[in-house]
Amino acid sequence: MIVTSQDFPLSALIQVEPPAQDVGQRPAGETTAAVAAAGGRRRKDMLRRLRLIALLLIPLWQGSASSAAGPPHAAVASADPRATSAGVAILNAGGNAFDAAVAVSAALAVVEPYSSGLGGGGFWLLRRASDDREIMIDGRERAPLAARRDMYLDPQGNVIPRSAIDGALAAAIPGEPAALVYLARRYGRLPLAQSLAPAIRLAREGFRADARYQRMAGARLTALRSSPAAAAVFLRNNDVPADGTLITQPDLADTLSAIAQQGAAGFYQGPLAKRLVAGVRAAGGIWSAQDLASYAVVERAPIVGAYHGWRISSAPPPSAGGVALITMLNILSGVDLSSMDPITRTHVIVEAMRRAYRDRAQYLGDPDFVTVPVALLTNPYYAAGLRAGIRLDKATPSELLPSAAGTDPSADTTHFSILDKAGNAVAGTLSINIPFGSAFMPEGTGVVLNDEMDDFSAKPGVPNVYGLVGEDANAIAPGKRPLSSMTPTFLDSDRGLAVLGTPGGSRIITMVLLASLDIMAGGDAVTAVGVKRFHHQYLPDEIQYEPDALPPEVIAGLQAMGHRLQALPGPYGNMQAVWWDRRAGRVSAASDPRGQGLAELLQ
Ligand code: DON
Repeated sequence: MIVTSQDFPLSALIQVEPPAQDVGQRPAGETTAAVAAAGGRRRKDMLRRLRLIALLLIPLWQGSASSAAGPPHAAVASADPRATSAGVAILNAGGNAFDAAVAVSAALAVVEPYSSGLGGGGFWLLRRASDDREIMIDGRERAPLAARRDMYLDPQGNVIPRSAIDGALAAAIPGEPAALVYLARRYGRLPLAQSLAPAIRLAREGFRADARYQRMAGARLTALRSSPAAAAVFLRNNDVPADGTLITQPDLADTLSAIAQQGAAGFYQGPLAKRLVAGVRAAGGIWSAQDLASYAVVERAPIVGAYHGWRISSAPPPSAGGVALITMLNILSGVDLSSMDPITRTHVIVEAMRRAYRDRAQYLGDPDFVTVPVALLTNPYYAAGLRAGIRLDKATPSELLPSAAGTDPSADTTHFSILDKAGNAVAGTLSINIPFGSAFMPEGTGVVLNDEMDDFSAKPGVPNVYGLVGEDANAIAPGKRPLSSMTPTFLDSDRGLAVLGTPGGSRIITMVLLASLDIMAGGDAVTAVGVKRFHHQYLPDEIQYEPDALPPEVIAGLQAMGHRLQALPGPYGNMQAVWWDRRAGRVSAASDPRGQGLAELLQ
């Protein structure tokens, strides 16, 4: 089948994507927090009090995740069978979960070139069994040093359509190469070259284009055609390749080999860096050698929260994921979801989503540039206030929640979940943003660059490709990381440990919420990835839902409460989950039935 769409239908793809610093077990509130200027003195007082409460709560968190014996099986779940096999091979060769994460990430970069890659970034949430430590490796892209707040605005101050989406100017400085090197050297057991070997082989030997590949390439055809190097690799005769076409990536194999041999310098310095910068600049971009040479990953303490005896750890800023997830769970922990009828249950979950996304729009951004009030937003007392504003019989119009200004999400990205037999775990969510990122590939690199610059708020209140709005906290600044929704997450209790996450743009966080609620209510990996999905993101003020997610009577009941509902044309998300049931001594792993990934258990 040849897909012939001429341009990227931004609304179409997400729906049809079925197919540390020293990091201890610290509470979310540990982060230095002061409220953004808008909050005023009253909020600062409240914050001081909340910080104190948070400190008093520390002992409750410590040690809650410890586990004497390891799981009976290792497991790998990823969005592509070839990437899962790469992870399994590395585990079988004596690697730990961190080595396997390097292998899976690199293989995904090759076989899902539209989802993630060396030209992009991601978050790798790690759990190290030897000392029960959790760490997040922030390999998020950074804005180039020449980036400016208004760089995507025309002289009238309007956002120039697609300027942060297509082409070299849309690309931020990649973090994935640095993250893989760091992960292997700091946490892995095997040589980097060994963990990268499966990906290098896949890039040289190639993979066959399938219907998913065709859909992604078709959606980005115009942009891919305007990058000769990208078109040479991903298109045939400047068109979507026929089903079964072999896609080989020799330049990418060389780039991976340079990283395998030289570490980060193989990408961020030397001849490859020169080619990246020259290619970007020749195509109207603003990268410099200094941008690449100064890129560094950051270890960050995960955001930690509690829900009915569970300990939740997830991605901290510059992802909004963990903060929003904990805010929603804190709101929901004060109600008994299990005793509610389906209409009220859906309503209350939606109202929690609405409130967390309102805060996302206002407060969240790169913590190295803005003060994010993490302690406030993740504190149970703050959530109690939000909960008090929810009426059980009526929707809260988003316009009545103070602040911030909405459209439709779309896109790609990827996730994998790994558990090894020692109990080490990795939840990795990686992205180049929309399919094929910026669709721009500098000549002679094999690296398709991200368009993560669109995750910034180009202008306050103007929605990005996912319909997300933002304010100052997520404005563009040189060297700043754009706010993300990626939410790699662990759920831990006496019952067991879950490792999960998914792609899906702005809907990632609510997918992780619904899956987490499922597991914490007695579910497992299979039920969690299969949960029917609905979503609210404050603006647009509507409940978006998979076609079969809400029965007619629930839809009618929600409408009667004042909710606007928008059925999506198809399913969305591509969740990968591992569940270690400590009580039963069993491990299960599952790949989202909407996608074509593979979950495997190792003996
Ligand atoms: O970091 C983010 O939030 C986005 N760049 C993720 C994009 C995404 O998940 C698209 N997937 N379907």
